Amino acid sequence: MTEHWTPASWRSKSAKHMPQDYPDLAALAKAEQALRAMPPLVFAGEARRLKSLLADVSEGRAFLLQGGDCAESFKEFHADNIRDTFRLILQMAVVLTFAGGKPVVKVGRMAGQFAKPRSAPTETIGGVTLPSYRGDIINGMEFTPEARTPDPQRMIQAYSQSAATLNLLRAFATGGYADLHNIHRWTLGFVADSPQGARYREFADKISETLTFMEAVGVTPESHPSLHQVEFFTSHEALLLNLEEAMTRVDSTTGQWYDTSAHLVWIGERTRDLDGAHVEFFKGIKNPIGVKCGPTMEADDLLRLADALSPANEPGRLTLYGRFGAGTIDKRLPALLRATKAAGKSVVWAIDPMHGNTLTANNGYKTRPFERILSEVKSFVEICKAEGVHPGGVHLEMTGQNVTECTGGAREVTEGDLADRYHTHCDPRLNGEQALELAFLVAEKLKDERLDTARRAAAGGAN
Ligand code: TRP
Ligand code: MN
Repeated sequence: MTEHWTPASWRSKSAKHMPQDYPDLAALAKAEQALRAMPPLVFAGEARRLKSLLADVSEGRAFLLQGGDCAESFKEFHADNIRDTFRLILQMAVVLTFAGGKPVVKVGRMAGQFAKPRSAPTETIGGVTLPSYRGDIINGMEFTPEARTPDPQRMIQAYSQSAATLNLLRAFATGGYADLHNIHRWTLGFVADSPQGARYREFADKISETLTFMEAVGVTPESHPSLHQVEFFTSHEALLLNLEEAMTRVDSTTGQWYDTSAHLVWIGERTRDLDGAHVEFFKGIKNPIGVKCGPTMEADDLLRLADALSPANEPGRLTLYGRFGAGTIDKRLPALLRATKAAGKSVVWAIDPMHGNTLTANNGYKTRPFERILSEVKSFVEICKAEGVHPGGVHLEMTGQNVTECTGGAREVTEGDLADRYHTHCDPRLNGEQALELAFLVAEKLKDERLDTARRAAAGGAN
């Protein structure tokens, strides 16, 4: 229970999807010790700031945009990759902000998203059985006994990659790159000559014109620094608790525990057991946190989890990510929305339209049809509307790289095209074009909502 909570109290609980087979426990303890001495990646005050922005989302005053790789990797670590995902998030955010007329809270699935739950602990190829690949923070992807053996030194490498990534993200967010006057420069090369690129250009022209007008009336980046920079936050699934524990520190301002590995951390669909190690760990940290809610989640389970994880019902503390699949969301989401609403739970409801829509193509590639992703997002907004709940945001697996991992979209990536540029270390991601197309679709929905609200207010005023 919370009275006896320590960053290590998860160790007495069952920890699913974590490696039980580090061969050298002394080396593991040494790596954890080294991590405990590392500087925090984020500050408690920043996590509190994100919590307050998410409180705005929970009350319908803002929208959450969260996205990035399924899994970051050591091999794909490059400044260009970080920049490209960041600029794609900026493009999507500006489209959504304009349409919804509300601030967009920008959260990267970046700078720490390394560990992956796997459906089986081992993998067999040609009669050889080895431990499954669990993400670069644990072992290597190559199918050899050496690579697949968990290596605690990888935690240190993941930490250092996260620190370098976050450093660049902070520079991009506040150093001028994110200035609204740069709106035309965020377009990725391969997106420029696509239908989405043309649509974005038109939109960006409109914003540029508005900025010129505003400057003429005295609203400049000098007078309004918010034109010149963004607040950008990081997040990941806190799966490997050895690292999360080592990064959990007492905040000197409040005396409370914060996991300083990211601003927001979430619990995955497969590790959300009420009595498990992950829920135990999350109970004691004060960060804003998330929980993935899949098709097997019952309303009772959800309320028990909300009680355990957010006992004070503090707005912004808990974000729930539905991930049901396009064909299932209408059967599962309404009951969950009703439950949290009836119980007066202050939560953000967001949609992860990726993980319920994964399938294996005829040629063996794991993929996600873009139409199903769009369809789940549309259903999410409509169901929320019908239930009187704010559709708070989207959580996406996406990359600024020109990959062919999800089928469909304006350029109609086919199953045959998947082999062209299939680079993911785990699940298929939206490419820049597909992500932008999705942003335009969500933008239309947010705009409808905004106009509805304005119409109702006008009608109310007339009565
Ligand atoms: N700072 C504001 C915000 O984050 C405006 C802004 C500046 C912005 N650059 C941006 C919005 C890039 C979206 C994208 O909302
Ligand atoms: Mn994934």
